[in-house]
Amino acid sequence: MPTVSKRVSKLPVYVFATISRQVTDLLNQGKPILRLDMGSPDMPPPTAVIEKLKSVASEDGAHGYSGYRGTPIFRRAVAQYYQKRFGVEIDPETEVLPLIGSKEGIVNLCLAYLDDESSIAIPTISYPAYEMAAILSETAIVSLPLDTSYLPDLSNYQHQSNTKIIWINYPNNPTGAVISLERLQELVDFCNEHDVLLASDNPYAEITFDDYRAPSTLQARDAKRTTIEFMSLSKTFNMAGWRIGAAVGNATAIKNLLHVKSNMDSGHFKAVYAAGACALTDTPQAWIENRNSIYQSRRDKIVDVLSGLGFLVHKPQGAMYVWAQLPSPHSDDVEYVQRLLNEAYVSVAPGSAYGSSGQGFIRLSLGISETQLEEALGRIVAWHHP
Ligand SMILES: Cc1ncc(COP(=O)(O)O)c(C=O)c1O
Repeated sequence: MPTVSKRVSKLPVYVFATISRQVTDLLNQGKPILRLDMGSPDMPPPTAVIEKLKSVASEDGAHGYSGYRGTPIFRRAVAQYYQKRFGVEIDPETEVLPLIGSKEGIVNLCLAYLDDESSIAIPTISYPAYEMAAILSETAIVSLPLDTSYLPDLSNYQHQSNTKIIWINYPNNPTGAVISLERLQELVDFCNEHDVLLASDNPYAEITFDDYRAPSTLQARDAKRTTIEFMSLSKTFNMAGWRIGAAVGNATAIKNLLHVKSNMDSGHFKAVYAAGACALTDTPQAWIENRNSIYQSRRDKIVDVLSGLGFLVHKPQGAMYVWAQLPSPHSDDVEYVQRLLNEAYVSVAPGSAYGSSGQGFIRLSLGISETQLEEALGRIVAWHHP
């Protein structure tokens, strides 16, 4: 067999693929693993969305290619959502591009803009796909430092003239940090001034707690000059397996992303676009609030238990994770995660998977039922105090 390309040989195995393999091995050995490592919603999407999928899937005309730009109905639904939710005008023809999940767009945007002569700025703690996309694009990575609230610290950021993209993500995975529109405006102004693409990864905009409502970066003044935002239905409507999201914003960035994408995939199933449009336009706000109140009570339980064990932990106001600093004598997050998995059969994510600044932290997901969560927290307590 030939060897893989140099590009792929530099690509580490995706951290969650490794954890999943270990979990599967333990499950196959009959171990009762409880998973708090995955950001996958455990609850179903709104019923109307499932009904829409079923009805469109039974239509004769639903089974052909749907076009590289998705269906007009889905693009219009995304524009309508941005208008209603954020008060932002979006042209569904030029400023929306449906994606097969936002992760797909994250990687393809990098392929569209980056190469070995450019660089990308990535927050020192961030969703691993940004770094993997940079490696696939064979581009240099520049650190975007974070302040003590996990917000970009532009005063300590060393901007390079060849940096083409800056990633941000609020509400944040893994830290749960949230950002104000004022801080987003500073980032937009910076990117407009330096002619850098501001890539705002915003899949958790609708998962917020304690009356906090997340902004869109596109609400900032002149944002469309250099901002592209990634929205996703995965977490917003509990549709992670449906693989549907969209890129929204700067028309040139959308066009260039489409240029790559149209050479890679041929759009999604029409029934998925129709169901996605239904989720965006017909889901009552009460459905979102009810779902968030369930996550919020799980958040509170996790924070209470971990604080009691001496973890340093804050209540996150957004996203679906609790980010916690290990109590002494523990300091190595990878070792801690391995021991917890093999000895207590509870799987959590190691902080260092999100960058070296995440060392000494773990991330716990809120996407687990109350019963399983109680059991997992009980095991964690028992493991700490045998
Ligand atoms: C910050 C962030 N961006 C993007 C994604 C990918 O989401 P999608 O399911 O839309 O590909 C995730 C998934 O966990 C995420 O946490």
